Amino acid sequence: MHDALITWYHTHARDLPWRSTDCTPWGVLVSEIMLQQTPVPRVEPVWHEWMRRWPAPADLAAEEPGEAIRAWGRLGYPRRALRLHAAAQAIVSRHDGTVPQSYDELLALPGVGDYTAAAVASFAFGARHAVLDTNVRRVLARAFSGTRYPANSTTAAERRLAEELLPTDDTAPVWSVALMELGALVCTARAPRCGACPIAAECTWRLSGFPDHDGPAPRG
Ligand code: ADE
Repeated sequence: MHDALITWYHTHARDLPWRSTDCTPWGVLVSEIMLQQTPVPRVEPVWHEWMRRWPAPADLAAEEPGEAIRAWGRLGYPRRALRLHAAAQAIVSRHDGTVPQSYDELLALPGVGDYTAAAVASFAFGARHAVLDTNVRRVLARAFSGTRYPANSTTAAERRLAEELLPTDDTAPVWSVALMELGALVCTARAPRCGACPIAAECTWRLSGFPDHDGPAPRG
């Protein structure tokens, strides 16, 4: 299952700038905060503008917070801009302007919760950390627990499962981003496209006849 999903990711994933190997850890952190409540197409232009204006944490930290709010544009939930500004200042004061690598130091930054700390540790630094966003949780619920949706909030069992599934070699980050992309593009909340899914043959939800699915069964 791991190989099939990772191969699918390499051939089908969107080419997004924060996934490029050229992207700095700061770029990854900014993207993860922007992507929390805003879809990719709206984030992309604003992310480019932020990276052009503030290529490093010290550049943003030197600005007035109001500039961060203004540059947030229409991404919504503008308090996130203030949190990023505060995170940039903390990176300068505590870490000499360099985004810290460890999950614990990331988690201690203002506005950085479990998801963001795990995502940055994993995607920017290659750490082996389970990254549980809505899309990943839905894919795991279907493929491994056989339920249409995950619980309302992350359970200990879910976290254990995610950690058990995490590859022990250096493919842990790509496995996580591949689960995320599968949830975003194929295993969507309302209309999963099982015919396009690289792990459909092993999906518990599909093999059990799509319990709780309303409407016609997903194709494939
Ligand atoms: N790639 C890495 N993190 C992502 C996210 N949160 N949303 C979409 N693509 C991503």
